[in-house]
Amino acid sequence: MPLRFGEMGEQKKVSLMIDGRPVTVPAGTLVIEATRRMGIEVPSFCYYPGLSLQAACRMCLVEVEKAPKLQTACTLVAIEGMVVRTNTEQVRQARKAMLEFLLTNHPLDCPVCDKGGECELQDMVFRYGADTSRFIEEKIHEPEEKWSELVYYDAPRCILCFRCVRVCDEGLDVKALGVGQRGAYSTIIPNGGDHLECEECGMCIDVCPVGALTSGTYRYKTRPWEMQYTGTICTHCSNGCKTTLSVRNNRILRANNRDLSGINREFLCVKGRFGFDFTEHPDRINAPLLRRNGKLTPVTWEAAMEEVAPRLAAIRAQHGPDAIGFIGSNRTTNEENYLLTRLARAAIGTNNVDHHRTADYASLAAAQGSEMGARSLTMEALGEATAILLIGNDTGRQNPLVDWRIREAVRHVGARIYVIDSGEIKLARRAKLYARIPEGAEEAAVRALAGKGPAPEGAGETLAAMKKAIEGESGLAILFGAGVSGEAVAELVAWGSKLAGGARYMALGDYSNSRGAADMGLLPDRLPGYVRVQDAAERKRYSELWGSAVPDRAGLAAKQMLVAAGAGKLKALYVVGANPFRTFGLNSRPAGLELLVVHELFLTETSREADILLPAACAYEKSGTVTNTAGEVQSLRKAADPPGVRTDFDILRIVAHQLELKGLGTAMRARTPEAVFEEIRRNVTGYNVELAGLLSGGAVLTAAGAARNGSKPFDVPAGAIRSAQDGLFTSGTLGRFCMMIESLSEAEKV
Ligand code: SF4
Ligand code: SF4
Ligand code: SF4
Ligand code: FES
Repeated sequence: MPLRFGEMGEQKKVSLMIDGRPVTVPAGTLVIEATRRMGIEVPSFCYYPGLSLQAACRMCLVEVEKAPKLQTACTLVAIEGMVVRTNTEQVRQARKAMLEFLLTNHPLDCPVCDKGGECELQDMVFRYGADTSRFIEEKIHEPEEKWSELVYYDAPRCILCFRCVRVCDEGLDVKALGVGQRGAYSTIIPNGGDHLECEECGMCIDVCPVGALTSGTYRYKTRPWEMQYTGTICTHCSNGCKTTLSVRNNRILRANNRDLSGINREFLCVKGRFGFDFTEHPDRINAPLLRRNGKLTPVTWEAAMEEVAPRLAAIRAQHGPDAIGFIGSNRTTNEENYLLTRLARAAIGTNNVDHHRTADYASLAAAQGSEMGARSLTMEALGEATAILLIGNDTGRQNPLVDWRIREAVRHVGARIYVIDSGEIKLARRAKLYARIPEGAEEAAVRALAGKGPAPEGAGETLAAMKKAIEGESGLAILFGAGVSGEAVAELVAWGSKLAGGARYMALGDYSNSRGAADMGLLPDRLPGYVRVQDAAERKRYSELWGSAVPDRAGLAAKQMLVAAGAGKLKALYVVGANPFRTFGLNSRPAGLELLVVHELFLTETSREADILLPAACAYEKSGTVTNTAGEVQSLRKAADPPGVRTDFDILRIVAHQLELKGLGTAMRARTPEAVFEEIRRNVTGYNVELAGLLSGGAVLTAAGAARNGSKPFDVPAGAIRSAQDGLFTSGTLGRFCMMIESLSEAEKV
């Protein structure tokens, strides 16, 4: 089995002495990891936890008693009775010599190097280096190379640690970087010869310890100490990567996760690392717009907000509450989604509430029942799973962190991967068994695995072999995409629960808060926590909590609302951060719609048809919480504050207040997202999470709907659950405004 570097063999322990202090570590631990656990610093360049061992830089040399010469701590496995010294004169001299050697051709221009202040070589020379050099030869200069819009390479700064090559090969399975030439002439070369054709994730830049690889979006814009840093959550796909936004003068200049915190540690894909410049796109709306004489006209916030509640109230008075519909967002916070569901159901009195559903979280909650907490697959657990079944999702394109974690499981614990998909997905090449099925046959494949039906055409043999192999596995991790919903989810869970060790599950949706939108009740027949609107006791509880009666009939799904609007039955549509006209293929505004209110960042197929268009803050400009596709809730923190926009939270609070003045519902008294989250914690099943983990920037597993053991699978209207089909370089409507990503040659090919 492959080694899990630094963490091997948890059961057996060995004891050794390091710098005169005893330490006991799991058998198989590397000496460099043992020193780190003790707070002893052993310098290193080529060692990078999680990647294969290289022993290229010789910076980590230590003295080991009875060994004839210095040893590299990054490849040395701790053994019982070993005596290690990390700070002897011989070790210090060796480090100094290695640094002197590394600096023979390295430019000594730290003040103008893009990495200055964050460079591991600079730090090591400061700590361990010599203040003089014996080399007087002129340095060989090579011009900097632009490999792509995002990746630049400066060969003289490269210290040949090969972290970039290994992260691209082992971490990404892309293999876009290699080593050219030999010895002193060695250099890193991209797969296109002079340019990169790759996933543009920037991981190579991220792990580069020096200024050899630099980022096209950030380089030479500022110095690291001139920025403020805000840890928040990526706004693109549903995986919930933590990102640190570096901000100067209210502008986001960089995104990375160099503090290695959060569920993704250092990982970010191209969207998370470079997809933030939409915040300052020239087309961003920065003033409310009212339709006057058929044209959207800029007005003040006061003028815009004076129109919303009176017009909603007038339509309600004339046509009844069900003449109004609400479509929420997959990217707004849990608190905003909660406010929207409350506004629709309690203040207006309709269950016409929905969002673009991208995975069947409701059916998974129903099928898992009270087991949900224990049987949910977290991102962390996925990286340690020994057997993984992936059904109907190209994680390499749609769920990059999930894909990264699966590859981690393969490298570190030798996980066996089983793939069922209609396409030739990247992960299939790591699969033990790969069943290629016809498009749309995911549910049939699930039934075949569960022994409940015939296999889809052409996949019978592979699926039979897969069923046999999987039924011999223990602790299976099951991940499925939008093609598995309703009854099929229930069948999958029933089969999985009979497997040895029981299976754990993850439904794979799209967008940063799809899961939160469903959990918070942006569904026409479910209240927050997947409570059915017909459940009298629960409906009463929410009615009392929200100060107005919640109706007992299921409302219209998003597509049905658009159809009703076309037929003149739905008179007003309130859209928060969504583009339903595009999602459901409408070419023009439904004829019968009298009022369209939209919160948006840009003019989209939907927002350009609005009567009232309210410019909204994005996820990087607000606080609150979001829940990733695994059900892990995390905190957003505000990094920038652009003029002219307001958070959806503030807008919804104002609308609720104005509706209350018109005798409709009770406005939310809580003024902050934190206070609303407290209400969610107290009232939404499965959200009563420990605050300590959340407030300290961690991810905390929720289990919305968990207590509803035995509830029926979700009744999914045909076509209601649909994948956004976003790839690495697209991100719904928002992706069109990510300028750097749009400029990539790889994005053009998508
Ligand atoms: S940007 Fe990502 S995919 Fe491209 S070379 Fe670097 S690590 Fe590899
Ligand atoms: S480019 Fe950076 S990461 Fe790659 S080998 Fe050179 S120094 Fe190491
Ligand atoms: S994997 Fe998803 S959440 Fe993570 S950085 Fe990429 S788009 Fe963002
Ligand atoms: S860190 Fe050990 S040889 Fe490079």
